[in-house]
Amino acid sequence: MKKMTKLLFTLGLATLFTYTINPASSFAIENSECLECHSDESLTKESTDNILKSDITVNLYVDEEKFNHSVHNINGITCVDCHSDIEELNYDDDLPHKEYLESVCCANCHEEEGEAFKNSVHMEILQKGITMTCYACHGYHYVMPMEAALLAERENNYCLKCHNPYQYHEWLPAQESHFAFVECIVCHAPEVSQQIHLNFVDLVTNKLYQSDEIIDILGINYNEFMPMIDANEDGKINQQEFDSLILMLRQKNVYARFHAELVAVLQPDAHQVKRGMAEKTCEKCHMADSPYFDAVFLLLTHEDGTVDHHEVERDVLESYNMSHFYLMTGTRVKLLDKIGFLLLAGGAFVVMAHFTVRILTIPVRRKRKEDKE
Ligand code: HEC
Ligand code: HEC
Ligand code: HEC
Ligand code: HEC
Ligand code: HEC
Ligand code: HEC
Ligand code: HEC
Repeated sequence: MKKMTKLLFTLGLATLFTYTINPASSFAIENSECLECHSDESLTKESTDNILKSDITVNLYVDEEKFNHSVHNINGITCVDCHSDIEELNYDDDLPHKEYLESVCCANCHEEEGEAFKNSVHMEILQKGITMTCYACHGYHYVMPMEAALLAERENNYCLKCHNPYQYHEWLPAQESHFAFVECIVCHAPEVSQQIHLNFVDLVTNKLYQSDEIIDILGINYNEFMPMIDANEDGKINQQEFDSLILMLRQKNVYARFHAELVAVLQPDAHQVKRGMAEKTCEKCHMADSPYFDAVFLLLTHEDGTVDHHEVERDVLESYNMSHFYLMTGTRVKLLDKIGFLLLAGGAFVVMAHFTVRILTIPVRRKRKEDKE
């Protein structure tokens, strides 16, 4: 069975990607053979640092447990799929493979990401003699599934390793809010699509609930979630259904709220960070029908890393069960006042602010009218 899956996988990959894995190698060498030696924490090698030209000790240990949870292992990628120049292990020698192995090229499998990355400011620095590898951001042995990751995790893994955003955004009010609720690349890679992700938090402790905790609390299976919540069976969670979910949790003594984050969809375009192209227009987000808030999802992550996307109607963002964002889409009076004030304070923006406030209040006025009818 395992062999069969592997075979199908290898064939699948060969058609999916325009490169070829050497099938012999992927059949012949199991991860366990490499880990025979490389799970030894004391295995090191002396080498020379390319940039500093000084002697360094390279740790050759691979943490099997962590590797097993990586997105690559989950998707059946083995050691030799990446270290593809090892075609066989020759135990007659002290060292069963070459002393110097070729560096792994991530773009062999991730061609589109490689192309997108070429157009980014991080490739430009090549002119200064600095090469940024894919793994400067992602790491290599322990690339975790990112789809359902929290924004803080995403930013810490990537941009915050090298940049301090508080150095660059003096013009942006409420910086802390923006960095906490808007992923860097939502502004910095404007071509990438974005989504609002909703996460369960405890009203009292502010603790975040994992998907499996919520599923356990509700006493159901993952595939029973939507049938249970989606009363009108339209495949989307609306305000009413959302409230009843909160109620069901309350009956189990869980007082949940929702924490919303504006994050990027995993796409090659995420790599197109370019100089001077970032989103700066406040109205793009702070306006009633801003496209930034069109796609709202409740994500439930299974143990094996796969993710269920449950679509949520945008109105839900206005719910009082939302610990943030409720000011963004509906009446938003408070936020508008704040922004209106800031723009006014800017002097030159007076006309624009007036104009914006009028546009921004149209839906409010329309809603009032509807309410009367
Ligand atoms: C019998 C023990 C043993 C096995 C099995 C083994 N390795 Fe190694 N590996 C070593 C040692 C020892 C070194 C350090 C060699 C040196 O000092 O130059 C090393 C070095 C490496 C390096 C660093 C090479 C470089 O260019 O710096 C990589 C990558 C590597 N091994 C991957 C693998 C993979 C993948 C497998 C399984 C296909 C594997 N090894 C199987 C012992 C082993
Ligand atoms: C997703 C691709 C990928 C997979 C899968 C992978 N490696 Fe690596 N590995 C790399 C990259 C990238 C490096 C960094 C140096 C380079 O480019 O060769 C590396 C480096 C290493 C090194 C050198 C020490 C270090 O950590 O820098 C060893 C040893 C190694 N890998 C062993 C393994 C073993 C054993 C497995 C399987 C359990 C494995 N690798 C699976 C991509 C991978
Ligand atoms: C400057 C940091 C950075 C570098 C360097 C980088 N990435 Fe990414 N990558 C990201 C971010 C940010 C995302 C989006 C993930 C998110 O929003 O959490 C991403 C997403 C991805 C994804 C998943 C999305 C998709 O397209 O399926 C893959 C695969 C990926 N990168 C591969 C690569 C490869 C290959 C390279 C090298 C050519 C690379 N990355 C270089 C930051 C980086
Ligand atoms: C042998 C092919 C192969 C190589 C080489 C490879 N990957 Fe992957 N990678 C995959 C597959 C298959 C997936 C899972 C399907 C997908 O998301 O595309 C994946 C997924 C990813 C993801 C997506 C994570 C998510 O949340 O979905 C990232 C990021 C990533 N790889 C980064 C890298 C980096 C960085 C390297 C180089 C160190 C690398 N990959 C090398 C095959 C490969
Ligand atoms: C491994 C370190 C590293 C990571 C991680 C990283 N960057 Fe950079 N970034 C750089 C370097 C180096 C430059 C070039 C600075 C220069 O040219 O002076 C740069 C340049 C930039 C620039 C152009 C502005 C400037 O100062 O020239 C922007 C915008 C930027 N990065 C955003 C991001 C975003 C967004 C992320 C997360 C997806 C990110 N960076 C991740 C190292 C990094
Ligand atoms: C609300 C949108 C927004 C968010 C969120 C945001 N930025 Fe920016 N950022 C900008 C704009 C606009 C600029 C001005 C320069 C430009 O357009 O690239 C800028 C400038 C920068 C610069 C300097 C660029 C230069 O050319 O000097 C860096 C580096 C940077 N941001 C990194 C980050 C990081 C890291 C994060 C996440 C923690 C982040 N930004 C979040 C909009 C944003
Ligand atoms: C990419 C979308 C985006 C852009 C562009 C953007 N914002 Fe925001 N802003 C947000 C989000 C999301 C929040 C967090 C909402 C929350 O705290 O409920 C926020 C929060 C704020 C807050 C704090 C609200 C509070 O009560 O904490 C202010 C003030 C604000 N933005 C003003 C601005 C101004 C002024 C600009 C233009 C210079 C701007 N924003 C640009 C998305 C954006």
